[in-house]
Amino acid sequence: MFAKRTNWNLAPNRLSEALAAYRAAGKPLLDLTVSNPTECGFEYDRPAILNALSNPAALSYEPNPRGLESARRAVAAYYGDRSEDVSAEDIFLTTSTSEAYSYVFRMLCDPGDELLIPSPSYPLFDFLADIQDVRLVRYPLLYDHGWQIDFHALEQGITPRTRGVIVVHPNNPTGHFAKRAEIAKLNAICSARGMAIIADEVFLDFPLEENRRASFAANRDAPTFTLSGLSKISGLPQMKAAWLAVSGPQQWKNEAVARLEVIADTYLSVNAPVQLATPKFLEKRHTFQEQVISRVRRNLAELDRQLAAQRASSRLTVEGGWCAVLRVPAVRSDEDLAIELLTTRGVSVHPGHFYEFPSDGYLVLSLITREQTFAEGTRRLLSFF
Ligand SMILES: Cc1ncc(COP(=O)(O)O)c(C=O)c1O
Repeated sequence: MFAKRTNWNLAPNRLSEALAAYRAAGKPLLDLTVSNPTECGFEYDRPAILNALSNPAALSYEPNPRGLESARRAVAAYYGDRSEDVSAEDIFLTTSTSEAYSYVFRMLCDPGDELLIPSPSYPLFDFLADIQDVRLVRYPLLYDHGWQIDFHALEQGITPRTRGVIVVHPNNPTGHFAKRAEIAKLNAICSARGMAIIADEVFLDFPLEENRRASFAANRDAPTFTLSGLSKISGLPQMKAAWLAVSGPQQWKNEAVARLEVIADTYLSVNAPVQLATPKFLEKRHTFQEQVISRVRRNLAELDRQLAAQRASSRLTVEGGWCAVLRVPAVRSDEDLAIELLTTRGVSVHPGHFYEFPSDGYLVLSLITREQTFAEGTRRLLSFF
């Protein structure tokens, strides 16, 4: 009686089973996979956040498919602060980046149409695509002293059914940004073939280098959807506030916005208190981001200090985001290794295959882990080899 698109294998994998058993036994765990910022000991301006949610204007209902203008203006100002010219009229508020993806997938793709996605990358895409009947085609990212898009493979992956290219900027977990020349090439490929760029910028504000990377939100050289939200930017995933910005050739943009309006109007999914609080939540991003960036830098420095004292493992270059990728001896599968690290050292890490790394020998560590846990977990991890 169920749709085939929901025929997922829901059996827990060996690592999640091992983790559940380890936790059930009440053993102490050094968790180097944390991604929920509200559980990482960052300081939030609690009164300001809670006060922002009690705006009396929330007592009236003003349905608008794009979302409340005051919130969209605040998002446009966020881009303005980065010197990116984005109009509030081109912004649609959503409850999450995932929901923004679903609007875009629904608008661009008939069942069976294809989207190109980077590999390695974030594992949620498979479910998002299944639910929207979209087929994902992976384009490899190559590593050689830094990550880059394999454009040859990307172009080979294009078929008459390809509707767009997803770019995660910076990517999770590789932490690399699309470079100026890569953006120009993506624009050329997409505009020549009537395809869209779908840019996921949830980690845009977390670069490790001083020079700020441009957003796709003001990209006008190809049809572009730019997705972001407060879950990472302000560290508030529980508030369920995100957005989608549309940019590109004017005639295309008019049509895209009109169609998106119908999709968004069908759901009107973002609630009034959160929309009214969005300007305040965005204002609070600076203090959150300072804490995250300084923790990420300190954890990375600690990792490098420990790596310098051994020879078996190394780390890949990281330009931004919340993760580090470790290259470790591929003496067993990533999954076996993660299970062994858990059961013998009490350390939890993500195996590379979770993100579709092309081979064994990669582990992913969260750089927003509390410093003490990170230092001790890393010490135990590296002493394993
Ligand atoms: C690359 C990327 N995009 C989107 C998301 C999810 O964002 P949201 O909470 O807005 O759906 C995540 C969450 O980890 C992510 O890593």
